[in-house]
Amino acid sequence: MPADKVWWRDGVLYQIYPRSFSDSNGDGIGDLRGIIERLDHLGWLGIDGLWINPVMPSPNMDWGYDVSDYKAVDPELGTLEDVDELVAEAGQRDIRILFDLVPNHTSDQHPWFRDAIGSRTARYRDLYVWADPKEGGPPNNWLSVFGGESAWELDEASGQYYLHNFLRHQPDLNWWNDQVREEFDDILRFWFDRGVAGFRIDVAHAMIKDRELRDNLPVDDETDERARRIGQQPIYNMNRPEAHEVIQRWRALSDRFDPPRILVGETFVLDLGKMIAFYGERNDELNLAFNFPFVFASLDGGALRKVVDETESLLLPESWPVWTGSNHDVGRLGTRWCEGAEDRTRCALMMLLTLRGTPFLYYGDEIGMVEPELTKDQLRDPVGLRFWPEPRGRDGCRTPMQWTPEKGAGFTTPEATPWLPIGDAGACNVADQRHEARSVLHLTRALIMLRASSPDLQTGSYEPLETPQGVWAWRRGERVTVALNLSSQEVTLEDLSGEVALSTNRDRDGDRIGDRVSVGPWEGLVIQT
Ligand code: NOJ
Repeated sequence: MPADKVWWRDGVLYQIYPRSFSDSNGDGIGDLRGIIERLDHLGWLGIDGLWINPVMPSPNMDWGYDVSDYKAVDPELGTLEDVDELVAEAGQRDIRILFDLVPNHTSDQHPWFRDAIGSRTARYRDLYVWADPKEGGPPNNWLSVFGGESAWELDEASGQYYLHNFLRHQPDLNWWNDQVREEFDDILRFWFDRGVAGFRIDVAHAMIKDRELRDNLPVDDETDERARRIGQQPIYNMNRPEAHEVIQRWRALSDRFDPPRILVGETFVLDLGKMIAFYGERNDELNLAFNFPFVFASLDGGALRKVVDETESLLLPESWPVWTGSNHDVGRLGTRWCEGAEDRTRCALMMLLTLRGTPFLYYGDEIGMVEPELTKDQLRDPVGLRFWPEPRGRDGCRTPMQWTPEKGAGFTTPEATPWLPIGDAGACNVADQRHEARSVLHLTRALIMLRASSPDLQTGSYEPLETPQGVWAWRRGERVTVALNLSSQEVTLEDLSGEVALSTNRDRDGDRIGDRVSVGPWEGLVIQT
């Protein structure tokens, strides 16, 4: 790695849903040893860092996002020794490991909550958010994100309610309490001391609640679609300004490590100004903040370009954008943006890997994996089950990685029953695509290699160009231009010259362009002068 390369800024990051990546012991569940066994694939692809969804012990009411011990590994996924080996083996390949931190809530099986429930004077009582009933019912009108029901659950023994912004099995921590802050400092240090390079912070915007527990306001014309679905504006049960103090505290702690550890936030706010505030006014909060307005924009030049241009104009010079099209909650880009069409998927990958900012690929994006249709009895996600059949739950984007065309897809043994059904591995898998020079997999790798060899693509400026409708084109730095035709009509672009460094369908790699170029429907070109 060149000495001045900053891995999380200049490199490409990759998200792994550990239960679904690779199963090393044939129990149908992916695990840490499985990830270790697949590091060669990730090294070959050119990945610089992995974000691994929660691996801590969990009763799995919300698949790892209900943690019952923050300093251990869930036995289904491995051991602390496996973590050490993963960090070391990944390090050998210049790959860093980011873990997932869930600070907003614990599991209701966490020893703190087991102690806290039942008595108002319990030792750990104040680590959670408790309130007296109001008029015989919940303390206020806050609704849970998972289901449009009250976010309060009555603890009959003590006569008070506890808050759960998500499932009732996920009691919210009280971040006004100093002990909570100290415990989490300790948790961060525990993993950083083991060589973990940073954290993705779950619902980073949600940690602090209004001290006075004021009622949320009803939806109005400005309210976004997601809040509308829940039925109120989440302004007091989350999205409080004091969350920034907690993040600043962690950033200071992370910066004290050598090398500094990094913080990536799940900043699930749909207002770009508010999202960008999480980098900190003095760039002293998150290193990277996920951009959900981008994730939810449709794959057309207009909508995506609008978000990118606005993000670029609002970001402070030292802050660095993040681009992603898939994750374990929102779905896979091959399905949600591209409706399974491979030419579109190729354009989406070219976009993510050539914009100015850090791309996060989600396992399977590199082969254009799509979400299989699941029946209700196959679902494991509490949200999918709650809202069946619409909106679609999250299991479709959490199905096992498709490594080979055989039964078990190389994810698990042919005899094992995978924890979630496997998609169409015959049609889409790593092994077949490795043998096909023009596959989506080879395009993804070529884009990553091109980026790694081009300072313009890593850190060069982003400058959008005037183009006909349907096309989105931008210049990166001094010598690179990217042109994406996100429409079904061929278009001609003027005033472009140079050599095609990469084309989405690979037919035009190496072509010389003199002044004008036609770009086919759903075709993308990276042109270098
Ligand atoms: C966001 C996580 O990504 C999601 O999977 C989880 O259900 C919620 N936070 C609650 O932790």
